[in-house]
Amino acid sequence: MRKRKWLAILTVLILVFCMTACGKKQTVPDPVDGSGSQQQGPDQTSPSGGGSAIPAQEDEGVLVVVFSATGTTRGVAEKIADLTGADLAEIVPAQPYTEADLKYSDKNSRATKEQNDPDVRPAISNDIKLDGYRTIYLGYPIWFGQAPRIMSTFVESHDFSGKNVIPFCTSGSSDIGSSDDTLAEQAKGGNWLEGKRFPGSVSQEEIESWIIETGGMIVDSTLHMMIDKTGVEVDWESNAAVDALKKISRKEPLVIKMSMYGGFEQVGQIGQQLPADDKRVTAQPGDIMLYSGDQMVVFYGTNTWEYTKLGKIRDMNSTQLAERLARGDVTVTIVCGGK
Ligand SMILES: Cc1cc2nc3c(=O)[nH]c(=O)nc-3n(C[C@H](O)[C@H](O)[C@H](O)COP(=O)(O)O)c2cc1C
Repeated sequence: MRKRKWLAILTVLILVFCMTACGKKQTVPDPVDGSGSQQQGPDQTSPSGGGSAIPAQEDEGVLVVVFSATGTTRGVAEKIADLTGADLAEIVPAQPYTEADLKYSDKNSRATKEQNDPDVRPAISNDIKLDGYRTIYLGYPIWFGQAPRIMSTFVESHDFSGKNVIPFCTSGSSDIGSSDDTLAEQAKGGNWLEGKRFPGSVSQEEIESWIIETGGMIVDSTLHMMIDKTGVEVDWESNAAVDALKKISRKEPLVIKMSMYGGFEQVGQIGQQLPADDKRVTAQPGDIMLYSGDQMVVFYGTNTWEYTKLGKIRDMNSTQLAERLARGDVTVTIVCGGK
């Protein structure tokens, strides 16, 4: 009798353990020792105190997946990707959302009708692969207090087992509400952490703090430049072209073979197109410019043309620049991260 009572207590304990262990917001067992132990970040809890911080895994991929109808959440996603060195993937609706589709004041608009029907699953046109990623930042706008239904299409069609999922959203004013919980419930597996809402105007510093709070790692995104084998100090611009340069040179050094041209510049192919925002300017000695989207130009003289400024070599006058750049072709190497 006594034995049976203990058996019953044991069964209940096992059941409670299983229910806790199989629910959301758990730690993922460490793939190395399988113990579930964590390398602690500065703060073990998420900002709202919900999920567990992710274990630091330097050698495992980080992916930012975002759906953004008007670009606000995409902007936050790009900042997260830049700060963490993550890859970025955008959920593309098979049928793009028009301005009329997004009219939330119209009860007959597509978005309103979709949000009113919890069973709608708008189709996605691209195939986002999660293989090789341990941490997924998942971003979306708030639509009528919830995630857009296309997010349900995404989470239901992917397997998040063994991955940490960190939801984030942007909105006019609403909080993340239950949208992150709903997605976690609909998803196949995954260790879902408490989500976070950002206003569209969120600063890089706020995002940085949040990444650290959730246990993520900020990568060193300092750009270093060498002309032949010697380093030069550069004041880099803050623009999409420089961000792209960081992304390219983070994986491996970007080596650009330059040639002297026109008696005022060294120019070379970057090997890929960077996002240009060309303006007609007079480049000065020391200026580093993007020309035609895919060429880097370093000036030791002046020239007026359409360029996107990338940066300026610091602490070198025209004579010093000419000595380095006007005596034959050079190789420029760009590296992102520690020297
Ligand atoms: C259909 C629709 C419904 C929305 N519902 C809300 C809402 O409930 N609460 C809120 O604060 N903002 C709401 N918004 C505003 C968006 O959440 C906000 O503009 C968001 O930053 C847009 O992100 P995106 O540019 O990445 O699409 C809504 C916008 C749309 C288009």
